[in-house]
Amino acid sequence: MAPQFPGRRTDPFHPPAELAVGPPARVRLRNGSEHWLISRLDEARDVLTDPRFSADDQHPGFPRAFPLPPEPGALSFLRMDDPEHGRLRRVLTTEFTVRRINAMRPAIERMVDDLLDGLEPPVDLVSRFAFPLPSLVICDLLGVPYADHDFFQERSMASLSLVLSKEETAAALADLGEYLSRLVRDKVRRPTDDLLGRVAERRVITGELTEDELAVMARLLLVAGHETTANLLAFGTLSLLRHPAQLAALRADPALVRPAVEELLRHLTITHLGLPRVALEPVDVGDVRVSAGEGVLVYLSSANRDADHFEEPDALNIHRPPVHHVAFGYGMHQCIGQTLARVELDVAFARLFARFPDLRLDCDVSDIRFRDGEFVYGVHALPVTW
Ligand code: HEM
Repeated sequence: MAPQFPGRRTDPFHPPAELAVGPPARVRLRNGSEHWLISRLDEARDVLTDPRFSADDQHPGFPRAFPLPPEPGALSFLRMDDPEHGRLRRVLTTEFTVRRINAMRPAIERMVDDLLDGLEPPVDLVSRFAFPLPSLVICDLLGVPYADHDFFQERSMASLSLVLSKEETAAALADLGEYLSRLVRDKVRRPTDDLLGRVAERRVITGELTEDELAVMARLLLVAGHETTANLLAFGTLSLLRHPAQLAALRADPALVRPAVEELLRHLTITHLGLPRVALEPVDVGDVRVSAGEGVLVYLSSANRDADHFEEPDALNIHRPPVHHVAFGYGMHQCIGQTLARVELDVAFARLFARFPDLRLDCDVSDIRFRDGEFVYGVHALPVTW
């Protein structure tokens, strides 16, 4: 029988052995449906750049590793194909330029310092640092009042849970939608100098974009920009604490923080459910013919450990020469927030380890609960002390 996807990790730091790099293979989701697992890096890139594979979850056969409500458009352009995907994504490109994101660096540094100032040992780094930081940053970027962050952090986590019921995840998404619709309506009336205010002024008032389209897009940004960075930060901290020699090298040479972030992105590949697509017509992937209507899961966790591209792929090595991993995806849907995520992670790791030179785990690794049941992999809590 086809192995279960996403399977159970025997070692939380590595993807399950039965999903390791290999030719396209059948896997079975919890809902019983079977799809093709794409785990080689070259084939992953081929699928993600091939317009014969659709990201539109309304197609029958689309893999649902995740019990999100199937209502059309719930995840904005993440689950659309061009030209509609491009029309909506382009609305945001000027907001995510390297120049604009780099201009946020001083504000991000202040946010990191303020959060670190508030920490007393022992502390849970997930709830006190890893989640609040991206939450503050995304609120600031979008123009969402931070005072409301408990409300949307809770809903955002619930909307991405694999263990809650379909009704609960749907209710969380609906709450977030209502909140953001109200906010967008206010911004259309009184534009403010933030992402939602600027897009409201330039695109909604001009009739290019509807209020609803902007509200759904805001929800995607909020959820996508929040969980991912937070989990990489916490899981990345744990990984570095388990490699003291590499952590010491990083502390001695702050320039190593950039390669360290890239290596953590590659090695941890927190989007452990892969990227779902469905074939619109028959496509050959390697030696396999994927029929029209069949689903594929592009399994980034294994693609990022393809021995044809990465030396000693299972080892965490922050001294690795620059590599082209696919932790942010590839092709037309490649992560729009990657520059922002990199700035947040650079600043956060650099300052965390500089501020607390004897930061250490305050429990056994075996006591840590990993996020098997969530959309984004990581740790539920990270007790540390110094
Ligand atoms: C898309 C990963 C941070 C917003 C993606 C995709 C991946 C990814 C793998 C591709 C999805 C697909 O092809 O189906 C990550 C990781 C992050 C991160 C690992 C942090 C460590 C962020 C941040 C934001 C963001 C900070 C927003 C501020 C988005 C959006 C898309 C996306 C809007 C959809 C792009 C499209 O469909 O054209 N991300 N992301 N992400 N990401 Fe991220």
